[in-house]
Amino acid sequence: MTLALPAAAATPSHAVYSSAGDRAAEKAFVDALMAKMTLEEKLGQLNQPRGLGSNTGPAAMAADDAQIAAGAIGSILGSHGAERTCRLQRVAVEQSRLGIPLMFASDVIHGHRTVFPVPLAESASFDPEEVRIAARHAAVEASAHGIHWTFAPMLDISREPRWGRVVEGAGEDPYLGSVMAAARVRGFQGDDLAAPDTLLATAKHFVAYGAAEGGRDYDVADISERTLHELHLPPFKAALEAGAESVMASFNEVAGVPMHAHRGLIEGLLREQWGWDGILVSDYTGVMELIPHGVAGDREDAGRLALAAGVDIDMVSEIYLKDLPAAVREGRVPMAQVDASVRRVLNAKFRLGLFDDPYRYCDVQRQEALTLNPEQRAAARRMAQKSFVLLENDGDVLPLSKSLRTLAVIGPLADNRHTMLGNWAVAGRVEDTVTPIEGLQAALGDRTRLVVVKGAEIEGDDTSGFDEAVRAAQSADAVVMFLGEHPEMSAEANNRTSLDLPGVQQQLALAVAATGKPVVVVLLNGRPLSIGALQGRVPAILEAWYPGVEGGHAISDVLFGDVAPSGKLPMTFPRNVGQVPIYYAHKNTGRPPRAEEKYTSKYIDVHWTPQYPFGHGLGYTTFGYDQLKVERAKLALAAPEQRVSVRVTNTGKRAGTEVVQLYLRDDVASFTRPVRQLRGFERVTLQPGESKTVTFELGFDDLSMLDASLKPVIEPGTFTVFVGGSSSATAEAGFEVTEQ
Ligand code: BGC
Repeated sequence: MTLALPAAAATPSHAVYSSAGDRAAEKAFVDALMAKMTLEEKLGQLNQPRGLGSNTGPAAMAADDAQIAAGAIGSILGSHGAERTCRLQRVAVEQSRLGIPLMFASDVIHGHRTVFPVPLAESASFDPEEVRIAARHAAVEASAHGIHWTFAPMLDISREPRWGRVVEGAGEDPYLGSVMAAARVRGFQGDDLAAPDTLLATAKHFVAYGAAEGGRDYDVADISERTLHELHLPPFKAALEAGAESVMASFNEVAGVPMHAHRGLIEGLLREQWGWDGILVSDYTGVMELIPHGVAGDREDAGRLALAAGVDIDMVSEIYLKDLPAAVREGRVPMAQVDASVRRVLNAKFRLGLFDDPYRYCDVQRQEALTLNPEQRAAARRMAQKSFVLLENDGDVLPLSKSLRTLAVIGPLADNRHTMLGNWAVAGRVEDTVTPIEGLQAALGDRTRLVVVKGAEIEGDDTSGFDEAVRAAQSADAVVMFLGEHPEMSAEANNRTSLDLPGVQQQLALAVAATGKPVVVVLLNGRPLSIGALQGRVPAILEAWYPGVEGGHAISDVLFGDVAPSGKLPMTFPRNVGQVPIYYAHKNTGRPPRAEEKYTSKYIDVHWTPQYPFGHGLGYTTFGYDQLKVERAKLALAAPEQRVSVRVTNTGKRAGTEVVQLYLRDDVASFTRPVRQLRGFERVTLQPGESKTVTFELGFDDLSMLDASLKPVIEPGTFTVFVGGSSSATAEAGFEVTEQ
């Protein structure tokens, strides 16, 4: 059922235009509309105030009806709900002079009401199809709640676990990041942007935000052009190739130029070189921040620089709206720049089908049917199961038996609902979540007695609960501990200088483990942690991230072996924070680390290797690799196609899924190359004793590197392929690329 609308409003004056995919119709429509617009109305389209809630910076003015009616607002950040957005839409369509519909934007980062695992967790699944499905569910649900436009996916590659925002991205690797970027964009945008259940996707934050110095949010990214192109840009390219219609500028500067004023990268690279024609939105007060960055003297200057750089929409600074009219009239800002941005905003509204029917997202019955329904919950549970990474499982402590008499459940996060949601769960509600304890109860029923003891808080130095925790462990057949970070230790402006478990949680784990009972630590957190002290003492460690509304059930599914863990780390886990940055795709250097040689690249107090490498993750069975073959020992430059195959065998006693990973090294090149780079992966499910041959196709993109002018080229020479279950894979083979 569509909300009842007044007859006149149901057919806005310009509803004769249709066919949102038709670019000629779009141009004709937008031309005609722009011809009627005043300067103020145009700048209104570029103005995005906040709705209710959402403040991730200085308090900003919330959108009000009078401004909407005056045509001073083009889109709104953070308003959702079919009824509420529809009411605002009605003001825009019925009361503003030209009746241009609003776009409602929101941070739909990992689900809407049905909160899915955080993006870093989803990435750990190495399952782009499941990730696409998760984004699809998010789009269906969020669009039913009146949202047109999501500020996701976040594509910042980062090797900096101190940075809280690593939880929002796909991790440290540009290849994995690109695959996930495309999957998410396809999920959000579907096949038809004009369908009422798709969202405009935003590739953010453009660009190199993940390289912020010291892991401090908003800080400087002083990186080489090569690093920019090799590491940070690929996921953006992948997202735009997958059709992303919007990009958000990042808060950081890149080599001296704040991204909100970076004409070279926005107008130059995105639009001219890559030919992308979507909308570029500022980040929250990003335009205004050009003043403290020190490149703009005042508000007008900031607006002038941002617009010239190609930033179309001013999120909450209200500079375009208030400070640009005089600047345009007096010739300091070219009208053509305003027009170009307005055109892109109107194009987006056209592509969403809003001019055909601005009320297409106003169906409250649809909203009800598509909120937290069983199908959505099942998808969230499946995504969570696939995202968990088994870090340790000494003596096959896991899976646990369901016929335990007593299970001790210890730790500050065992019944913490907020931790299930994680951060950026804008529409998520704690009451929708299944906690770890609820999951255990559902899985075990009355057969098992649960002894629940908190033992310690997340933070602080109070150890007074330790004795009770130890007693509970002693009295139990097995122990599951829920430890980690609360969500406010992760995501924006939540950076840490320590990667240790906060508070006294590590001590608690060690005290409980000293009982000698089978102890499982389940980690709930949003970044790589330094947990080396647990290794060898706590037999099983399961990284469960912030797992979403179905987290409790998914954790039990894996703990009791109904589902085997299959996730792999999307970021390296260091031994301690002093090793950061530490990542698998590093360069060899002239003095690669060697234990017996002092003058090599390493530390004197800690081994140079990480605690857990990128791609690491155990299952409940084991896998063997053999018969690694490269199809051609020599390849000609002109036909750089290679096929690599390997036989994978389940060598254990249980069925399981392995993520088979292929890494490549360009052995000698005119620029230094990483020691290995992920170039392919595949999830393979095998029964005990079963084998499968997995084949990877390699082509130009895999074998090429950037030459001195940053153009991709393949250089003749040898390449080494590594295949296995993590970035430390040892099975290797080689081939040569020849001139002929
Ligand atoms: C964040 C963005 C987000 C925006 C709107 C900013 O603080 O950096 O990622 O989309 O707020 O909520």
